[in-house]
Amino acid sequence: MAPILEARDIRKSFGLLEVLKGVTVTASKGEVISLIGSSGSGKSTLLRCINMLEIPDSGSVALDGEEIRMAGKPPHRHPADEAQLRRIRSKLGMVFQSFNLWSHLSVIDNVMEAPIKVQKRDPEEVREQALELLDKVGIREKADSYASQLSGGQQQRAAIARALCINPEVMLFDEPTSALDPELEVEVLRVIRLLAEEGRTMVLVTHDMKFARDVAHRTIFLHNGMIEEEGTSDEVFGATRSERLKQFLSAGAPE
Ligand SMILES: Nc1ncnc2c1ncn2[C@@H]1O[C@H](COP(=O)(O)OP(=O)(O)OP(=O)(O)O)[C@@H](O)[C@H]1O
Ligand SMILES: [Mg+2]
Repeated sequence: MAPILEARDIRKSFGLLEVLKGVTVTASKGEVISLIGSSGSGKSTLLRCINMLEIPDSGSVALDGEEIRMAGKPPHRHPADEAQLRRIRSKLGMVFQSFNLWSHLSVIDNVMEAPIKVQKRDPEEVREQALELLDKVGIREKADSYASQLSGGQQQRAAIARALCINPEVMLFDEPTSALDPELEVEVLRVIRLLAEEGRTMVLVTHDMKFARDVAHRTIFLHNGMIEEEGTSDEVFGATRSERLKQFLSAGAPE
């Protein structure tokens, strides 16, 4: 099957620091990919390059077979067509470590904002979907609370509902539970697991090796700006080849 997400040969430097040295990540529809690697290995940078929050120095990103057109050379490289970028970006739902909800808006207004303001959809239709999504993530009763009144786990689930409400083709998660206490982490992981079971295409940066092993179809280990090892859970965790990955896994994957 043709991949729904194709990020090919992504390179990115910050000054003299070459963070990504040619990384390719593709995902087929329904595939869950986890991205692991030590702190500073470029996991967040890779996710940010996929949705052009960071502009890759070279390489291409395509969604549904449509490549984001780029112009110029680094450091002036940029998406050539803002309208195309917006359209392609709206196929990507992004959930960060920090929830980035508007604290002065209610939970449901946070969820409804992009679909109404950016996608110009009908508010009533969006409200219905937003309520369904809040139900799915288990916080429908908090719809009218201010985001600031929610626990961290509830805020992160609201952030997931918000990302889902744009009807993305691919969800990108960057350590969505790392700011949470363990008991709050569980409820967020439960939601992500549910999305995986529903067949959502997801790329998930995580430090939780057990979760990666259980939920992801494929795991990618980034090291020194390159893919050091990649494979199914059985391959990567059960029959680890790379010495560096062995070290990383046996070190308890510290942050
Ligand atoms: N905007 C930036 N400007 C300069 N350097 C940056 C920038 N963003 C990231 N870096 C550097 O790039 C490297 C990779 O950072 P990145 O955040 O992608 O790592 P990571 O794998 O997500 O790490 P962590 O597990 O700690 O989140 C780090 O050395 C970081 O300091
Ligand atoms: Mg990171």
